[in-house]
Amino acid sequence: MATLDELKKAAGIKAANEIQDGMTVGLGTGSTAAYMVEHLAKRIKEENLNVVGVSTSWSTTLQCRKLGIPLKEMGEVSELDIVIDGADEIDKNKNLIKGRGAAHLLEKIVASMGKRYIIIADSGKKVNTLGEKFAVPLEILPNAIGVVTAKVEALGGKVSVRMGAPGKDGPVISDSGNIIADAKFAPIENPAELSKQLDGIVGLVGHGLFINMATQVILATKNGLEEF
Ligand code: 5RP
Repeated sequence: MATLDELKKAAGIKAANEIQDGMTVGLGTGSTAAYMVEHLAKRIKEENLNVVGVSTSWSTTLQCRKLGIPLKEMGEVSELDIVIDGADEIDKNKNLIKGRGAAHLLEKIVASMGKRYIIIADSGKKVNTLGEKFAVPLEILPNAIGVVTAKVEALGGKVSVRMGAPGKDGPVISDSGNIIADAKFAPIENPAELSKQLDGIVGLVGHGLFINMATQVILATKNGLEEF
């Protein structure tokens, strides 16, 4: 039986094979996205592809530099041919929770530029209702931590600042210098509405609900790849 890593790798390879010569592509963050980046690097070398990446985190940037994938700065582009990323929860409408790796703000900016936004994951990420297992990751401007916490709690979320990154005391700080927290909601019956309410909170610079963004999901199951 395939291991979890083999499932993630199969999804990553399938998505990396969608990339064509001449494309500019958004490269997600996380263990599944890392398999996609690895296979893209192999294709660039073997097929001599002219592909440029836009990275969603320092983690992915360092991997790309190591593997020799040319990168553009996020701020240099406004449209991408394909964006490929992982997710923490996926519902049947392709709505997502993202941000376990604290990269959700930059991931969402890059996703918003994609003509196609492909999500890759193992089938354990599929849920009936978002919020079943995962809290909604938040990215908060440090000076706004008090007001944002109060406003998210008024919407029914139990907020906790994410602590304990290995090798660092105190809160997890994003690649953009903001505080990462998580808001645990009861299963989210109307994720589009909650997303809109979170978008309206001043000082909350990002959250992990990705609504109507993904155009394709590639799920790796024990019986092979499923797409929807
Ligand atoms: C990082 C993310 C990741 O894409 C998400 O957590 C999935 O990661 P993995 O493939 O390691 O399960 O949103 O912020």
